[in-house]
Amino acid sequence: MKKAIIGGTGVYDLYPNCYSKTINTKYGEVVVDIVNINGEEIVFLARHGKGHTVPPHLINYRANLKALEMLGIKYIYATAAVGSCNENYQPGDVVILTDFIDFTKNRTLTFYEGGEEGVVHTNMDNPYCPNLINKFYEASREVGLKVKGEAIYICTEGPRFETKAEIKMYKKLGGDVVGMTNVPEVVLAKELGMCYSAIGIITNWCTGINATDIVLHDIQGSMNKNKEKIMETFLKVFLE
Ligand code: HPA
Repeated sequence: MKKAIIGGTGVYDLYPNCYSKTINTKYGEVVVDIVNINGEEIVFLARHGKGHTVPPHLINYRANLKALEMLGIKYIYATAAVGSCNENYQPGDVVILTDFIDFTKNRTLTFYEGGEEGVVHTNMDNPYCPNLINKFYEASREVGLKVKGEAIYICTEGPRFETKAEIKMYKKLGGDVVGMTNVPEVVLAKELGMCYSAIGIITNWCTGINATDIVLHDIQGSMNKNKEKIMETFLKVFLE
């Protein structure tokens, strides 16, 4: 198995006819779904667990990525529900993440903790795989999925939403979208030498943007609008 999809908030399944597999990693147990399409086995991992039971700051990111590595995964597409602090990207839009700024506070960010594991400083020149990004663009055109643009992702610790002042700062720093899960996921994938790309699905305006005080819009509605086409695009790339 070489190819995996990590589904974020609102994206919980790939295909109805898949089977589940439990992988025991040194960091903990992970359950994935595996689907066989024309002889190709694609792995699906629900980031927050089946039934969305794990909040962003408590996700066992290392177990998730280690489990994918143990299955032989080399290529990952992920979805990420995000708020927008860029007026050009509105709820319902789909963007491709091209870089991140890390504002997490309390997470294990690496597999390499010294000792036996050693000390490794992973290159972050291209955290998101340019090759997978290009392929996503091409396939999205064929599938008829509109990609609104590219985005710099700000990762916050959560689980609370941001204050107006924080969003003002993130915007000034060059952030386009804000979420709570892509760090350390992208970093750990990179440490394991995998090609990783994440697609942002904009679910709401960030706090204080666009004259809205209330952060949470209809997350499920924004998701449903595009999630099937996003999955179709992932599979199109993976099954080529
Ligand atoms: N902030 C942080 N994470 C999010 C948001 C947000 O506005 N929307 C979806 N995930």
